[in-house]
Amino acid sequence: MLRLRPHTCWLAAGAVAAVIAGCEPTNQGYSPAQPINYSHAVHAGAMQINCQYCHYGARNSRHAGIPPAGICMNCHEQVQKDHPEIAKIIEAIAAHEPIEWVRVHSVPDHVFFDHSIHVGADVDCQQCHGPVESMGRVTQWAPLTMGWCIDCHRASSEPDASGAPPRASALTDCAVCHH
Ligand code: HEC
Ligand code: HEC
Ligand code: HEC
Ligand code: HEC
Ligand code: HEC
Repeated sequence: MLRLRPHTCWLAAGAVAAVIAGCEPTNQGYSPAQPINYSHAVHAGAMQINCQYCHYGARNSRHAGIPPAGICMNCHEQVQKDHPEIAKIIEAIAAHEPIEWVRVHSVPDHVFFDHSIHVGADVDCQQCHGPVESMGRVTQWAPLTMGWCIDCHRASSEPDASGAPPRASALTDCAVCHH
């Protein structure tokens, strides 16, 4: 997929040097238009629909996932079914075609990331995705760079206030994220 990656460090000697210098390229702020004008501010904000009602993969699998059109129709069979944006969902279902949502967040293939590990450790969606419930259109809020991952992992590896020892395998080992 072709994506805008504003490089701030073309002159860095190599990838590792760039990483150490803390000047990785990032897609922070990326907010592509979507085929249907779906709003998190309306659904997750005003209506307070739970994130995992739609992103039900997050608890048990690597990917949070994007809900299939059928989930939308649980409500939109009745609600606003004459709205032009809802008509697009109905057409996609009738044509047996998936809605072509544009992916916002991604890490490169050489990085291992898993939602279920984080959700299971009670890391909130908002710690990584920001205030999605107030977004009309989803924006990549965090840089998703290696330095960003490691900052939180380092903090999570330190003993907590009770003095409990840090976990045995350091969360900052290269092999944690690069298998
Ligand atoms: C009613 C269903 C629904 C609910 C509830 C919902 N979402 Fe979504 N979410 C979607 C759909 C559809 C998309 C894809 C279109 C888009 O990006 O807006 C999406 C996209 C996203 C994305 C971007 C995915 C990508 O391509 O990188 C994130 C992050 C996200 N949601 C987080 C959340 C969080 C956090 C909550 C709760 C505060 C939430 N969502 C609640 C339906 C939902
Ligand atoms: C739990 C019920 C529910 C689900 C699930 C749901 N919606 Fe909605 N949606 C509503 C309601 C209620 C409104 C009307 C909100 C209003 O009038 O303020 C609405 C409004 C809309 C609108 C009209 C424009 C707007 O933002 O107000 C669009 C477009 C829309 N929804 C798309 C979707 C899509 C796409 C999905 C699936 C990813 C979805 N909805 C899932 C209940 C739902
Ligand atoms: C520790 C950080 C972190 C947390 C917590 C987190 N995400 Fe993500 N999310 C990411 C990253 C990184 C990606 C890109 C993953 C990839 O490329 O495989 C992503 C991708 C997504 C996507 C795009 C589709 C997918 O599954 O890859 C959705 C939707 C999403 N997240 C929703 C959520 C929701 C909802 C929650 C809370 C239940 C959540 N995320 C919690 C970091 C996080
Ligand atoms: C906001 C904090 C936070 C951010 C940001 C974060 N993580 Fe984590 N991550 C955690 C915590 C906490 C754990 C430990 C979970 C546990 O011990 O059960 C963890 C665990 C993991 C694990 C499993 C480690 C193991 O050996 O059990 C992987 C892999 C991982 N994270 C990858 C990533 C990647 C890749 C990123 C960046 C794209 C990232 N994380 C960003 C908090 C975070
Ligand atoms: C907590 C997760 C995590 C840990 C631990 C981690 N990395 Fe990374 N690494 C990432 C992520 C995420 C990226 C992709 C960043 C991006 O695309 O902006 C990355 C990218 C890289 C790249 C490619 C840089 C580029 O510009 O493409 C190299 C090389 C790398 N890491 C080496 C290492 C080494 C060496 C270690 C151990 C000292 C390490 N990583 C530890 C998450 C991690």
